[in-house]
Parts: sequence; structure tokens; C-alpha cells
Amino acid sequence: MQDILPPDIYIWQKVEAAAREVFSSYGFQEVRTPVAESTNVFTRSIGENTDIVEKEMYTFTDKGDRSISLRPEGTASVVRCYVEKNLHTLPSPQKFYYTGPMFRYERPQSGRFRQFYQLGVEAFGDPGPRIDAEVISMLRHCLERIGLKEIIFNVNSIGCPECRPVYRGKLIEFFAGSLDRLCPDCNRRYLTNPLRILDCKVERCVDARQGAPKVTDYLCEGCKTHFNSLLSFLELLGVSYVVNPDMVRGLDYYTRTTFEVTSKNLGAQNAVAAGGRYDRLVKEFGGPEAPAIGFAMGMERIIELLKSSASHDFPNPDVFIAAIGELAARESLVVADRLRTKGFWVEVGDAENSLKSQMRRADRLSSKYVFIIGDEELKAGRLKWKKLSDSSQGEISMFEITDFLRQQSS
Ligand code: HAM
Repeated sequence: MQDILPPDIYIWQKVEAAAREVFSSYGFQEVRTPVAESTNVFTRSIGENTDIVEKEMYTFTDKGDRSISLRPEGTASVVRCYVEKNLHTLPSPQKFYYTGPMFRYERPQSGRFRQFYQLGVEAFGDPGPRIDAEVISMLRHCLERIGLKEIIFNVNSIGCPECRPVYRGKLIEFFAGSLDRLCPDCNRRYLTNPLRILDCKVERCVDARQGAPKVTDYLCEGCKTHFNSLLSFLELLGVSYVVNPDMVRGLDYYTRTTFEVTSKNLGAQNAVAAGGRYDRLVKEFGGPEAPAIGFAMGMERIIELLKSSASHDFPNPDVFIAAIGELAARESLVVADRLRTKGFWVEVGDAENSLKSQMRRADRLSSKYVFIIGDEELKAGRLKWKKLSDSSQGEISMFEITDFLRQQSS
């Protein structure tokens, strides 16, 4: 878990603002759900046998003897809310986005934290594949707007309750003779969810799965048509993608479309965003039949990429007011207040200090302008200004300062 401070926070705010703009242009509206929920909200959706539920949840018993967990992701909570608040009675599709901290007790490493932020979206009530392509294209626009480059869109279909059991059977058959070659985790996965063996990063498991059957070869007609239409919509929208049949995702609720955006410029934890379709989850939460799709972007990984790939302009004060003398010190407060109501960032010097020391502070803050008010200037209703970047200077009437700053910044 980490602190996020200036100046990095400005990159976070830029990313969040860009995402809000893009999501809104596709009709997604913000929802805020609690950071802690009943543990079963997560166990029943993410899956009892997933890494998240088995090993990574921050779970505690509250004073009312209820089992509560910090949310490890956003989808389960949004689905719980969709059902609880009867949002399915509103016209479909209902489209939401959210942002906030998620918690997973994972082994910390570069790009993997125990508290991390996601920016996610969920769209309910449309079976796709048109909306699947729109959601993926929206993610592409968002990452482009943010300025991420060299990213790869991996897409896959992991089928439905009709065809996945057939594929699962094929995988069980395939790995039956090579269990001793798999890591202990994959030996467990073999019994609970053999699809997860496909995205294990352990080298011997990567070797053992060479030649394994591919999920895309076992899709039923419905899933095949859905997937092929998705690919053609992606082409129509100009989204470059790679079909990656090994990309099966670590959460149990997915059906059909899954996708993951990876970057070559990150280490082992290279997914900057991931998501997929979950057509059965709303029903499992006691709601009606409501197919759904969504994704979540990992903020820390995006910020890491942006920090290493571009230089950033951080904001600094528009004006530093240096005052000389007691009356001028009082007036500087009034001037600062007036300018702040107009939206300017104004810092006020300490008139107890010399002009030289106030100027030094303005310099350290990289203020764009310094206004100098002394008793003389005050009497004449004027002040001196100095632009720190080129040392130009002049004098203006107190009444002109807002116009002066507006002109300078336009
Ligand atoms: P996820 O793949 O578990 O999916 O997480 C989505 C993204 O969150 C990852 O691609 C990664 O960027 C980031 N992330 C996950 N764990 C960590 C961590 N420990 N530290 C830093 N970043 C992390 C979900 O959470 C699904 N709820 C996505 C979704 C939404 N599917 C449908 N709707």
C-alpha cells in the first residue's frame, strides 16, 4: 500500500479526467459502491477456487459478527448494486463506471500492490457482440487519450456453459499424463479450474502446455458466431488485436468475450487493463437474465508507463504576491482572495521576511508572476509585476490585475 503525492498526483488526475471524458461520451455514468462488502458478494462471484478468494482477500469479522471483506475488484459490487437497486428495470443497456482503491493480499512486486486503484466500467443488459466491440474501442480511445503507446489488445472467447465443459474435458485429458510437470498450484487448478493452467507463468507449466487444445477450437456455434462478429466489429472500428486463446482470466464469472491490454514496457505484471463478458452473474445474484460486459484499468501500471515514457508539465502558482510593509501585507491578502475567486492559483509571501527572501520563495515555487506591493504602490493604487521566466517587469493599476493575468495566460 502506498502514498500518492504531488507531483505524481497530477498525472493521476489527468488520467482520471481523460477517462471520465471518454466514458461519458459513450454514455457511462459514475457509481460509487462501498469499499467493504459482505464476504459472500465476492466469493460467490469471483469464485471459491480463484487465487483472489483463496488467498488474497482482506477478510475480517465485524462487531456484528458478520464476515466482511475489502473489495478486491469492482465488478461484484456493481452487480450487487444493480440487482439490489433494481437497476434492471431501467432501459437497457445500463452503463456505469467507477474508480477507487481495491485490495488484494498479493505478494508485492513491481506493478503489484496490496492496495491499488482501478478505473472500471460495466454495461448491463446487452448480449453483444456490438457492445463488446464498443467497450473495447472505448478502452482503446481512453488509453490513446491518456497517451499510452505500444499496447497490445489480446482478445479471446472462453465459451459458455454449453461448450466450456467439453473444452474443460479436453484439457483434463491433455494434462492427465503430465501432472508431475505442473507446479503445485496448477495441480490444484487441474482439479478445480484446469483453464487457469493456461495462464500460469511458471516455466515448467508453460512447457507442459505446449500443444494443449485451444478453447477457440471448441466453441459452440453460438459462441463462435459471437466471437467472429466481435472480431469483425473490432476491424470495422480500427482496433488492432491479437487473438490469444491462452488468455482465460483469473476470475470465474466470465463467459464468451475476454480481453486484456498488455504493454511490452512493463515487467512480469504487464496487464494495464482487462475485462470480459459475464452473462450469468446478475442471475446468480438473484437478478433477472441480464448479460453484461466490462473492464478495469490498473491505475498504478498506467501511471508507471506514463512516468517513464513522457515528460510532464506540473501546475505551479500563477502569482506570488510579495508584500513590503504592514498595510501592503493586509492588502496582499485581499488581492489574493479576489484573484483566487477568479480561479488563479495565488501564493502570498510573508511580509515579515525581506523582499529578497520572498522572491526566493516565489522562485522555488516556480510561480509564473510575482506581484510586489509596497506602501508607495498602495497609495498610488498600483503594483509592480515581474515575470520569472524572462525577468520582464512593469507596473499596473490594481484594477487591471485580473485582465492582465487573463491576457498573459490566453
Ligand atoms: P483484473 O484482471 O483482476 O480484473 O484486474 C484488472 C486490472 O487491475 C489488471 O489488468 C491490472 O492492471 C490491475 N491490477 C489487478 N491486480 C493488481 C494489483 N495487485 N496491483 C496493481 N494493479 C492490479 C478485474 O478486476 C475485473 N473486475 C475486470 C472486469 C470488469 N471484468 C469485467 N468488468
